[in-house]
Amino acid sequence: MKLNGQIALVTGGTSGIGLAAADLFRREGARVIVVGTDAERLAAAEARLEGGGFAIAANLRRAEDIDRVMTAVRARYGKIDILYANAGLGRAAPLEAVTEDQIDEQFEVNFKGLFLTIQKAVPLMARGGAIVLTTSFLNSKGTPGLSILSATKAAVRSLARTLGAELAPRGIRINAVSPGPISTPFAGKLGLSEPELKAFADGVAGQVPLQRFGEADEIARAALFLASSDSGYVTGTEIVVDGGLSQF
Ligand SMILES: NC(=O)c1ccc[n+]([C@@H]2O[C@H](COP(=O)([O-])OP(=O)(O)OC[C@H]3O[C@@H](n4cnc5c(N)ncnc54)[C@H](OP(=O)(O)O)[C@@H]3O)[C@@H](O)[C@H]2O)c1
Repeated sequence: MKLNGQIALVTGGTSGIGLAAADLFRREGARVIVVGTDAERLAAAEARLEGGGFAIAANLRRAEDIDRVMTAVRARYGKIDILYANAGLGRAAPLEAVTEDQIDEQFEVNFKGLFLTIQKAVPLMARGGAIVLTTSFLNSKGTPGLSILSATKAAVRSLARTLGAELAPRGIRINAVSPGPISTPFAGKLGLSEPELKAFADGVAGQVPLQRFGEADEIARAALFLASSDSGYVTGTEIVVDGGLSQF
C-alpha cells in the first residue's frame, strides 16, 4: 500500500473526483478526512470510509470553517501528511452575463478557499508532506462561457509553482492534477439548461482526442501518484489527465 498510516485531508471529498480519491487513498492505507458542504453527501462519504477517517462540513468560502477543519484534524490525528485541495465549482456565462456574485463565488471557493486551506494545513505538515491541487484543462485552453472558472484554475496552477518554491526548503511538495472533461456532477452545476448542457458536453467530448469523457478514478490515480513517495522528486508541476484535449 502506497499511503500506509498516512493522514490525508481531501476537500471536495464527498463527490466526483474527491470522493474517488478519498476511496483510493483509503484503500492505499491512509486515514482520510473528507470536507464538503452537503450533509447527506458527507454522511455517505463517511460511511464509505468504514471507520478509516471522518467527514466534516465546511464551507471553504469561510475562513473560520477552514480553521474548524484543522482543529478537528489536529485533535483526532495531530498531523496531516497529504492535502488534496480539490473542491471547486463553476458557473457558465458569456462575458456580458457574468455577475459580480459569480466572480466572487468561483474565486472564493476555487482560489481563496484553496489558498487558505493550504495556509492553515501546512502548520500540521512535516517534511515529506505532499499537497495536490485540482486545476483544469481550462487553465491553458480558451472555452467560451467559462472565463471566470478558467481564470481561477490558472491561478491555482500558478500556486503550485509559487507555493512549491516557498515550501520546497521545508520538504513539502506541491503539484497539480489537471483534469479534462470528467464524468462527475460538476458540469450539471454550471447553471446551463438541459439543451445547453447537452450541447456543451457533446461539443467538449467531440474535441477530446481519446474520444470520451474521463472517469473520476483516472484523476484519483494521478493524485495518488503525486501524493505518494512515487513522486518524491516532483514538485511545482502539473499532470494533465485530459485525453489529450489541451495537448493536440
Ligand atoms: N468534472 C470535470 O469535468 C472537471 C474538469 C476539470 C477540473 N475539475 C475540477 O475537479 C474538482 C472536483 O470536481 P468534480 O468534478 O469532482 O465536481 P463535483 O462532483 O461537483 O464535486 C465538487 C466537490 O466540491 C465540494 N465543494 C463545492 N463547493 C464547496 C464549498 N464552498 N465548500 C466546501 N466544499 C465545496 C462539493 O461538496 P458539496 O457537494 O458537499 O458542497 C463536492 O464535494 C473541482 O475543483 C473542479 O473544478 C472538474
